[in-house]
Amino acid sequence: MRLTDRPTWKALDAHSRDMGDARILDLFAQDPQRAQAFSIEACGILLDYSKNPISAETRRLLVALAEDAGVPAQIAAQFEGRRINVTEKRAVLHTALRNRSQRPVLVDGQDVMPGVRAVLERMRGMAERIRGGIARGCTGRTFTDIVNIGIGGSDLGPLMVTTALRPYGSPGLRAHFVSNVDGAHLAATLDGLDPQTTLFIVSSKTFTTQETLTNAYSAREWLLTKLAAFASAEVLVEHHFAAVSTNLEATAAFGIIPERVFGFWDWVGGRYSLWSAIGLPIALAIGFERFEELLAGAFEMDEHFRNTPLYRNLPAMAALVGVWHIDFLGHPTQAVLPYAQDLLHFPAFLQQLDMESNGKSVDRSGAATNYPTGPVIWGAPGTNGQHAFFQHLHQGTQVTPADFIVAVNAAENMPGHHDMLLANCIAQSEALLRGKSADEVRIELKARGMQGEELDRLTPHRVFPGNRPSNTIILQRLDPRSLGALIALYEHKVFVQGAIWNVNSFDQWGVELGKQLAGGVLEDLKAGRPGSGHDPSTQRLIAYVLKNRETGSS
Ligand code: F6P
Repeated sequence: MRLTDRPTWKALDAHSRDMGDARILDLFAQDPQRAQAFSIEACGILLDYSKNPISAETRRLLVALAEDAGVPAQIAAQFEGRRINVTEKRAVLHTALRNRSQRPVLVDGQDVMPGVRAVLERMRGMAERIRGGIARGCTGRTFTDIVNIGIGGSDLGPLMVTTALRPYGSPGLRAHFVSNVDGAHLAATLDGLDPQTTLFIVSSKTFTTQETLTNAYSAREWLLTKLAAFASAEVLVEHHFAAVSTNLEATAAFGIIPERVFGFWDWVGGRYSLWSAIGLPIALAIGFERFEELLAGAFEMDEHFRNTPLYRNLPAMAALVGVWHIDFLGHPTQAVLPYAQDLLHFPAFLQQLDMESNGKSVDRSGAATNYPTGPVIWGAPGTNGQHAFFQHLHQGTQVTPADFIVAVNAAENMPGHHDMLLANCIAQSEALLRGKSADEVRIELKARGMQGEELDRLTPHRVFPGNRPSNTIILQRLDPRSLGALIALYEHKVFVQGAIWNVNSFDQWGVELGKQLAGGVLEDLKAGRPGSGHDPSTQRLIAYVLKNRETGSS
């Protein structure tokens, strides 16, 4: 039966019409316990979802939908290593990478945990040798800079985490990330780096990704040119390059020695890979013990997720609130607003996690979905966003559900700053909820001496509709453990939504066509011809570039 024909879906659909005009403030007035009743605390994280147009009945119906869609069984299937990535026939076991228990995790009857532990031990060894100055560059100097070359999941996870855990980094070892094939990214990163003390990590699950290989070969060229006087190309690559990949043939062809290659498995999706050796830059930047704390935080959330009934389950409820907004209230976007400058890259990380996972329009059987799936994820850290796009959140014509994320305790000892940050975060969700009526505006303006026509003219501009939904997610502190739990929370949220929508959240065929066509356009650009077989606009764009580009700008 189609999802939309199920009685549980239809019940929500009918209920959404009753709730359509509900004022969230009225729901608070009806239930003095609402703030607690619509909050969940787990793994040191508080999720307050009370500022959404959700009643106890809405929650009951949402949980019924999730049960009807088989979410509990699908959670079990994921943790049990079933091949739930149906289009690629793969298990989905990023949770095994952070399994801190002694429980085996089986794929086709084989326990994957000994392999996971072995790679973790090798990562520990590498982190200790580099951070301890035992493994050095080819001229004997200790490494001061690591450059991770990767894109998508082989970039965003380690970049986001390394930035988020900046206070835990060591000043003597800076981490840099190069992803874009735009030569400006690599050039700007290399500018000022000393090749004698720079270690490159080429991170690519497939080791075929065009951007990563182009950047890696250019970085290799830079190194070999700069250090030609000191050693042979072979020795230079041996000392200054490591790789994280499942493609050992390709890493060997690049010249990276097997001791410096860290493997992982086809059951680790790119966007879920920061817990694997893809996290090597994290372990180098913050130390292996801290990396293990990150894993432990995620494991704690995994345990909560798989063992807690849906209505008290933090990721599941976050997912259900999202389904309510997307499918029943018609809000297709989701703002993510971390009130933490160090979470600068969190929205971009979540864009890949959520939009690459659930940006699908056919279900697992290949049938077109007749309901909206993955939301558009966007956002930026507060308080900066307040002075940019918050205008739209408060007074725009579209309603955008928002996730506010903040830590109780400051990352830095800067007196006065953190209370201000917290106050802004909390006040923004209050403002979105409460709004300001025309009467309130008029009273305010009159108190300032305004009257008559001017008062009438300005009033509508100063009205806030309010009743705008948000979640608030509070951590104790932005440390490795709570960050691990926070990331796992969103991973599982995406999982539950994908399970309800019956999409395969673990493939990403949608990125292929552009890659494929880029190959043809590249050939045309190289050959200096507008090409054939393109649509007229594409052909004209190629011709325009060819006509206007300067010699040497390829
Ligand atoms: O193009 C999308 C994608 O396949 C992502 O899913 C992945 O994270 C990224 O490219 C990088 O892939 P790789 O690690 O194989 O270089």
